[in-house]
Amino acid sequence: MSVAFAAFASGSGTNLEALLEREERGAAYRIALLVVDRACPAEGRMQRRGRMAARLDFGAAGAGRELARLLSEHGVRGVLLAGFLRLVPSEVCRAFDGRILNIHPALLPAFGGKGMYGRRVHVAALASGAKISGVTVHLVNERYDEGRIVAQWPVPVLASDTPDSLAARVLEVEHLLYPAAADALARSLECGDMRPPAFRWPVGISETDGALGQAIEGAFDGAGV
Ligand code: GAR
Repeated sequence: MSVAFAAFASGSGTNLEALLEREERGAAYRIALLVVDRACPAEGRMQRRGRMAARLDFGAAGAGRELARLLSEHGVRGVLLAGFLRLVPSEVCRAFDGRILNIHPALLPAFGGKGMYGRRVHVAALASGAKISGVTVHLVNERYDEGRIVAQWPVPVLASDTPDSLAARVLEVEHLLYPAAADALARSLECGDMRPPAFRWPVGISETDGALGQAIEGAFDGAGV
């Protein structure tokens, strides 16, 4: 029996699509419900599959209670934010503490916080001169991008990158990392483990290995910016 999750989205929904595709191939979760805060392509992706999508006015009085009611009606045990641009109402944060994940297109705590979403994140990363960006999956609380980090994956920033080319490479990683993290959360919940999914960076070069020093020296050999 798979674990029922809800996804919340506001935009194009490519992460939602990746989550649904992983579910179709076999996952420990199923997306029982999509909640959107506006008309958006994510809604269409869900509806085309004949799946449940609900649109909610998050600015309305009592929106948090209505959302909590919807989630309980669908037996939801965890929530996946997939390009969702609002704060999650406090009732839902409290009820699902440790069971709400978000995906962010940078290595938090860099390039996060209020107003930092989508393309803006990549514009900021390029403007900073950062050489590495990446993807973060984190637990959600009542503040933007501040919950405990669950998993991260780096994506190099190339000298030739534009915000769109960087976004495209980061998105490829998002579509792999998010379904894997969602599946891990569902597997933990299945066995009653309330800790966040364990994630370990697959270290290839150990700190004591001379090759690391050589790799670092070699990284300075290219032409300067
Ligand atoms: C994704 O890149 C996601 O990481 C980002 O918005 C995009 C949504 O794309 N989320 C944030 O920036 C959250 N702060 P999608 O609608 O195609 O999944």
